[in-house]
Order: sequence, then C-alpha cells, then structure tokens
Amino acid sequence: MVKPVDATQTSAWNELKKLNDNLQVDFRSWFDDDPQRVEKHSYAAGDLFVDLSKSFMTDEIKAALLNLAREVNVVERRDAMFSGEKINVTEGRAVLHTALRQPEGNSVLVDGEDVVSGVHEVLAKIFEFAERVRSGEWCGITGRPIQTIVNIGIGGSDLGPVMAYEALKPYVAENLECRFISNIDPTDLGEKLRGIDPETVLFIVASKTFTTLETLTNARQARAWLLEEFEARGIDADGAVAKHFVAVSTNLKKVAEFGIDPANSFGFWDWVGGRYSVGSAVGTSLAVAIGPQGFADFLGGFNTMDEHFRHAEPSQNVPLLMGLLNVFYCNFRGAATHVVLPYSQYLHRFPAYLQQLTMESNGKRVRWDGTPVTSSTGEVFWGEPGTNGQHAFYQLIHQGTQLIPADFIAFSNPTYALKDGEADQHELFLGNFFGQTKALAFGKTEDEVRAEGAREEIVSARVFPGNKPTTSIMAPALTPSVLGQLIALYEHITFVQGIVWGIDSFDQWGVELGKQMANQLTKAVAGDEEELAKQDLSTRALIEFYRDTRF
Ligand code: F6P
Repeated sequence: MVKPVDATQTSAWNELKKLNDNLQVDFRSWFDDDPQRVEKHSYAAGDLFVDLSKSFMTDEIKAALLNLAREVNVVERRDAMFSGEKINVTEGRAVLHTALRQPEGNSVLVDGEDVVSGVHEVLAKIFEFAERVRSGEWCGITGRPIQTIVNIGIGGSDLGPVMAYEALKPYVAENLECRFISNIDPTDLGEKLRGIDPETVLFIVASKTFTTLETLTNARQARAWLLEEFEARGIDADGAVAKHFVAVSTNLKKVAEFGIDPANSFGFWDWVGGRYSVGSAVGTSLAVAIGPQGFADFLGGFNTMDEHFRHAEPSQNVPLLMGLLNVFYCNFRGAATHVVLPYSQYLHRFPAYLQQLTMESNGKRVRWDGTPVTSSTGEVFWGEPGTNGQHAFYQLIHQGTQLIPADFIAFSNPTYALKDGEADQHELFLGNFFGQTKALAFGKTEDEVRAEGAREEIVSARVFPGNKPTTSIMAPALTPSVLGQLIALYEHITFVQGIVWGIDSFDQWGVELGKQMANQLTKAVAGDEEELAKQDLSTRALIEFYRDTRF
C-alpha cells in the first residue's frame, strides 16, 4: 500500500501558512492593481467557464497550492485511480466510475480484465430497454404502455437519478413521468404512489448491494400495493412482477431472491461507489426518461471532464485548482462549510446530491493507512437555488461572522423558449447571479452607505464588508452533457481534497453503526421488553415516550 503523505509536513504547507498569515484580502485593490486578474484566474474546462478571480487565489497561493499537490502526489493518485488500482484501500476495491464513461473500444484493466467492454454491454441492454419502454413496446400486464417510472433506492441509488431527472426535465419524453421513493418513512411511498395507475407503472428497484433495509422494505411494499391494486380491479396478476419490476444492482443473486427475473436486471460492479454511480445502471430511470441519446450525451459530458482532469496541465486544471482552493479555505481560513448556489431551478436537488458526494467521501477522521488525519477534513456542503436563497440565508454570507466560500452556477440560455415580445425573465435572473458575486466581493463601504443618506446610527448595519470568496461557473446551457461535466467536476474536486488529507474518499464506514442499532432498536420499539431493558436511559425514555403517545 502506498502511504499517504502528511500534507502538514510538506514545505508547501509551511509556505501556505506564511502566505496566509500575510494575506490581506482586498478585492477592490486586487482588481484595480492587476488588470490581468480575471485572465489569470479564469479557466475553461469542457463547456464550463470557471472564474476564480473573486476567490482568495493569488499568484503566490496558486503556486504554493500546486506545490502542495505535487508533494502529496495528487497526479500519481489520480493516475492510479484512472488505471484501476485498488485505491479504495479499506474495501480493497478499484475506483472506476470514470470507466463508466469511457468510449467503446477503450480499455481499463481490473485484475487483468477489461471493464470497458462490460460497461458497454450493460449500456446496450439499458438502451434497448429504454427504447422498448419509450416506444410502448414494453407494456404492463394489461397491455398498456408505461407512463410512470418509480425508482426505489436511497443514497447514491436515489440522489443521482432524482437530481439528474429534475435537472433534465426539458429532455424527458412527454408521455413519461419519473417518481422517486427513498425514505423508509411509509409516507414517502404512500405519497409517491398517490394517483398512479398500476397498469402503467414500472418500478425500478435500485440498490448496489440489494440489502439496504429502506429499499427492500419499500420494494416489498410496492409489490404488495401492485398486486392488491390488480386484485381490486379483477385483473389476473400472474406475471405482474416481471412486467412491472426491474432491478439495478451489483448483486444479481439477491435480485433473483427478491423475485425479479435476472433477465430484467441491469448490473454494475463493486468498483463503482454508490455516490459515484449515476452514470451506471443506477441511471436507468434517467436513461428511459431522456432516452439513449440523451444518456449517451450525459456520459460524454462526464468523459469530457475526466479527460480535462487527466490531461490539462496542473496550472489550468479546474478540478485540481478548485479542490486545492477548498483545502486552503478549510485548513488555512477555517471555513467549516461550503455553499453551492445554482441559478437554475432545474438544479434544485444538486446541493443535496453534492452533500452525499462530498460528505460521505471526505467526512473522515483517519487516513487510508488507519492513522489519524493531521488537519480538519470534510466541509459541510449545502445550498439552494438562487434566487430563493437570496431571500433566506444570503444575509449570513454577506454580513455574518463566518467565512463561507460559495460556488455560483449559471447558464447563459434558459431551457425554455421565449415567446415573441415576452420580457426576458432570464435576464433578470442572471442580473441577480452577477449582482450577488459582485456584492460579495466588493461590498459597500461606510462612505458609500452615508452617500445614500443613511442615518448615522444605522450606517454600520448597512455596510457590506465584501471580500467574501466566490467561484462562478457558467455554461451556455444546462444540457445532458453539461450536467455530466458539472457532476464529474465535483467528483474530481472531492478526490483532490481527499488525497491532500490522505483519506480514502471511497468508503463509508461511518454509516454502519446507525444501521446496526436501528435493527436492534426496531425490536424494542415493537415491544421486546428484554431489548428495551438493554438500552441506555435516554434511548429508553424516548422509546417509552413513543409507546405512551402512540395513537
Ligand atoms: O448507507 C450508505 C450507503 O451505503 C450509500 O453509500 C449508498 O449510496 C446507499 O447506502 C445505498 O446503498 P445501496 O445502493 O446498496 O442500496
């Protein structure tokens, strides 16, 4: 095993400390004094224009961060990932979500076997299935075409598909709708099945392991609902599961045990992490919704960013620079959170998606060799679409006491067509996008507030300190390809941060204890007195409150 390098012991870390001690952020003078600032600190990656000029990046900090990347071997680790080395050390697995988007004919070897050909075999099967559903050839048991696809999955088997479906709504076939059931709270299933016609529904049970309690419980409930509905309509339900259920998993044995024909299942592999799996068969609901061409474009977008990350030189490498900048904010400026603000309603689930990607990956306290981390890791990612966030929490970003680096994302073209003579609401929308990063960077001084005629007592309340760091990411439009590029960008940013911190960004042991306890406690909740007596006093009191107040 290659040992992680302790970033805090590198000369670049020392240099960054010194630079940070002397750093006086003053965007007004930085822009006035250096007319090249935007040119120097903005980049192209695929269709994305990425402006870091309103970040804390300076020429010196950039050089020191790139030295840090060199000293902790980011490039070597990146190449190890792309080539299929088992860099997920604690699970003994390769990390090859990037192989999911390799063009046909390329080759990546895992244990001596090419995985790209397998990827394209499964893709062909998914695409054939998608065409059959979209054309109406794949019918429900009564011969009616499918109208509603219900994806049942949680975590990576839900967040990617639902986020991408919402993001690409304008590309969804008119006669299809997708819904997503994830929570074990039975109201999720109840609400999502409301109004669905059982004759035209298709359930996709998505679970990498096919052992996840939430997903299997919801899948059983959905199957029971379907059979009851058919019975109530006097329809012979023999063979209904085969027509109305398909599965996505790495565990096709468990799929068969559940009662879904392996012929109606789409596989993937243990080298695809759950939160990195939307480009695998986990994206089947999306492939049906937007069609094979749309899904191929989506994968092409990922690949564009993969190639950029792999081949762009470090000084121009956007995921590398953004990942390093996040390290700077976290470890040198004390930023505990990072906000992502898409100026696109279609991206309203993007921050939630990023929460799993970043926090399940980098929320770790030991390094990949089991030794403690040597600096803080894993910022809290959060966000909401603009402009909604502006009227809610931007106050704290503008005038609060914490440093909150912000990524702003926007698209030049709306995804709807403007009618003749219609006021361009998209221009108003973008005005807000540009206005916010400008206000955060340049603020408003006391003198400027006074010049507006403010009463002296409230001048300080109306001052905007500015010098708040932002990254602006723009693309011409939110297409399937651009969405793929954006997701891959954040995947690689997460990877870079993980390497600097020396952690295994691809395991998630921290989710296990709660699962184990939930299983034990369910017995106590259900009335097992012996199990209840074993619990700590607080847990007992809570369960007793539940028992006393249950209607
Ligand atoms: O509990 C966390 C987790 O393992 C995630 O990493 C994963 O995306 C999710 O559960 C769902 O797992 P599965 O796809 O195996 O059902």
